[in-house]
Amino acid sequence: GTRDTDDCVHSFIAIKPDGVQRGLIGPIISRFENRGFKLVGIKLVSPSKKHLEEHYADLAEKSFFQGLIAYMGSGPVCAMIWEGRDAVKTGRSILGATNPLASAPGTIRGDFALDVGRNVCHGSDTVDNAKKEIALWFEETEIQSWKPAAFDWVY
Ligand code: PPS
Repeated sequence: GTRDTDDCVHSFIAIKPDGVQRGLIGPIISRFENRGFKLVGIKLVSPSKKHLEEHYADLAEKSFFQGLIAYMGSGPVCAMIWEGRDAVKTGRSILGATNPLASAPGTIRGDFALDVGRNVCHGSDTVDNAKKEIALWFEETEIQSWKPAAFDWVY
């Protein structure tokens, strides 16, 4: 079936502290649900500095690194795993460009953000990074495998 393909993968999507504080968990989840993705993991996390430094290890040399770590540690983050066709690539397109000034209207950042340092959400940029990020943020037992039951009560 269409689900048994290489491009049916998991992506790690996080709603950053500004997104949680602005009440955007619902709207962001809706966009992924409406598109047809399946939620297989979700939790609110207050990540430690060490955890964030590991998550953003590739950016350690950037001038904005300390600011990014402080921002991401400023409140709970809604960590999620979404499953579906091309979840990493399509997830990024649902989020919009990293810098909200360049994000198209209709994307999450294009509709809800203005500053790259407060860009509401994170999404894995490659399938490899998605695997690493899921392993960093989730225990195996926190990841669900499920299929909807037949809708035989809909006439
Ligand atoms: S870079 O410089 O090309 O590696 O950066 P980029 O891939 O665009 O973004 C990597 C993550 O860094 C965040 N970022 C910033 N945070 C705060 N301030 C500034 N100026 C800034 N520039 C980039 C950006 O949001 C990316 O984080 P995630 O969590 O992946 O969105």
